Amino acid sequence: MIDFCNFSSIFIANWKLHGNFDFIEDYYQKLSINSKNCIVICSPSIYLNKLKTNGKNLYSGSQDVSEFEEGAYTGEISAKMLAENNINFCIVGHSERKQYFSENNYKINLKSKILIQHNIIPIICIGETLEEKNKNMTKEILKTQVEQSIPDIANFQNTILAYEPIWAIGTGLTPSLDEIKEVHDFIKNINKNYQNFKILYGGSVNALNSDDINSLKNVDGCLVGGASLKVSEFNSIIS
Ligand code: PGA
Repeated sequence: MIDFCNFSSIFIANWKLHGNFDFIEDYYQKLSINSKNCIVICSPSIYLNKLKTNGKNLYSGSQDVSEFEEGAYTGEISAKMLAENNINFCIVGHSERKQYFSENNYKINLKSKILIQHNIIPIICIGETLEEKNKNMTKEILKTQVEQSIPDIANFQNTILAYEPIWAIGTGLTPSLDEIKEVHDFIKNINKNYQNFKILYGGSVNALNSDDINSLKNVDGCLVGGASLKVSEFNSIIS
C-alpha cells in the first residue's frame, strides 16, 4: 500500500465520465507535479491502463469498484483486477454514485473493505445535501455516514476521507472556510480512531479557491472534479 501519510497534501483529479486517448496524452505532457504533494488521477475504468505513475507521488485511481470479489456480476470491475493493474487508490461512495446508481453506506463499507484487503486506498466520500444543511443536520448526517461507511479494518494509513457537500459539487458554490474547518474538525473528533485520518475537501475547488481551502488546518488536500479536466488549472491547484 502506498504510504501517503507523509505528503503535505493529496490532490485527486476526478475526471468522471470524461476523457479520450488524445486528452490523456496531452494531459500528461502538460501535467506538472512537485515532490511535496501526492497526485492521483482517476479516469473512467477503460482508460486506467493509459494513466501514468512515477512510483513517487503520481498515482492512478479508479472511480468505483465492485463490492464483490468475483463471480457472475456482469459489468463489474473487482478490487483484485484494479490491484493487478497497479491502481493504488479508488474513490468510493461519490455522491453521483449515490444519486444515480443506488450506492448506499452499506455498499460503501463493503467496497472500502475489499479495496483495503487488496492494498488499494479507498477515498471514502461523505457529504450532506442542501436540504440537510438548511435543516442544520450536517453533523448528524456526516456522523451516520462515517460510522456506516468506514469499515472496521480502516485506519489512517489505509483509508482517506473526502468531505464533499453535495450542494457544492459542480455548482460553483462552496462552504465558507470557517464551515469547512468546523466540519473537518467535527469528523476527526467523531471517534478517536478518526483523529489521524487524512480528510480532503471536494466540491467546486478551482485555481482561485484551492490555496485558501487547502491551507486550512485539518484539510489535507482536495478532490477536484470539473477543474481537474483543464490541466493548466489543475497544475495551478496542485502547485
Ligand atoms: P467538482 O466535483 O469539483 O466539479 O465540484 C467534485 C467531485 O465531484 O468530486
